[in-house]
Amino acid sequence: MHLQLVPDDDIDDDIDKDITERAVARCGTTHDPRLAELMQAVVRNLHNFAREVRLTEPEWMAAMQWLARTGRISDHTRAEFILASDVLGLSMLVVDMNHRLDPGATPATVLGPFHIAGSPELAYGGDMSDGLPGVPLFVTGMVRDLDGDAVGGAVLDVWQADPEGTYESQLDVNETRLRAKYTSKPDGAYCLRTVAPRGYTIPMDGPVGELISHTDIRPFRPAHIHFLIDVPGYEPLTTHLFQKGAKYLDSDVVFGTKGGRVRAARAGSRPGRGHVERAVAPGDVRLHPAAELLTRRT
Ligand code: BEZ
Ligand code: FE
Repeated sequence: MHLQLVPDDDIDDDIDKDITERAVARCGTTHDPRLAELMQAVVRNLHNFAREVRLTEPEWMAAMQWLARTGRISDHTRAEFILASDVLGLSMLVVDMNHRLDPGATPATVLGPFHIAGSPELAYGGDMSDGLPGVPLFVTGMVRDLDGDAVGGAVLDVWQADPEGTYESQLDVNETRLRAKYTSKPDGAYCLRTVAPRGYTIPMDGPVGELISHTDIRPFRPAHIHFLIDVPGYEPLTTHLFQKGAKYLDSDVVFGTKGGRVRAARAGSRPGRGHVERAVAPGDVRLHPAAELLTRRT
């Protein structure tokens, strides 16, 4: 039997197109219609990507091995795939597409990998730094709706890195620190006490760091405090408060910087008490009604 060789062009025409159409059609058999749509789009885009860059076999293998390493390093404390999504701008794109809020609402940003459920509840002005050395910082603000009316009883789940730029899951400690839940008063006011966080580099000892090291991307996040505010009747809000003038505001490696959330800290007084020489950062929040957003989506 003789092997019949066919010219490259014919292979392109016959195999290339046909395999994409067949793979897309197969994914179309997915029972859930939305999952079918997602899988078909993934296959179509992956095939187009491979064609566009003329993907070689060694390149394909390197990508498979990178994905496998990303899976192996991930566990309940390390979300390397999410980190990859953050660094590639995908997380922030998804946040933006799904939170097209009224411009008056506080903008949403990425959640990041360091949020932990079940933080301790603290009273108004309570200290979540638990005596850690650092620059004392009060964050005060009002939680309001788009009309400016107070939202009392809003739970603000807050977390941050320490003055060295480290989260507790990156240390060999078994304690919760620099995270707490505060509840806004009936007039919408909240106040938290902490120490000023520092900017930090994202974890660089895994496949994402390895990838970044082949680029000029700077792996830093500017100093920030995270907020997760979930109040019935409003869109859940994940946001950050950044320090005005902080390093890396222009080059946040996860694209999470939102101009509207950059706030100056200044010497001031703790609300309701005497003057203290401490940094006070205003952290007003405007929540977006849930129902209105749904109407806008349709
Ligand atoms: C964070 O701010 O905690 C974070 C967000 C995305 C990637 C890494 C860290
Ligand atoms: Fe963070």
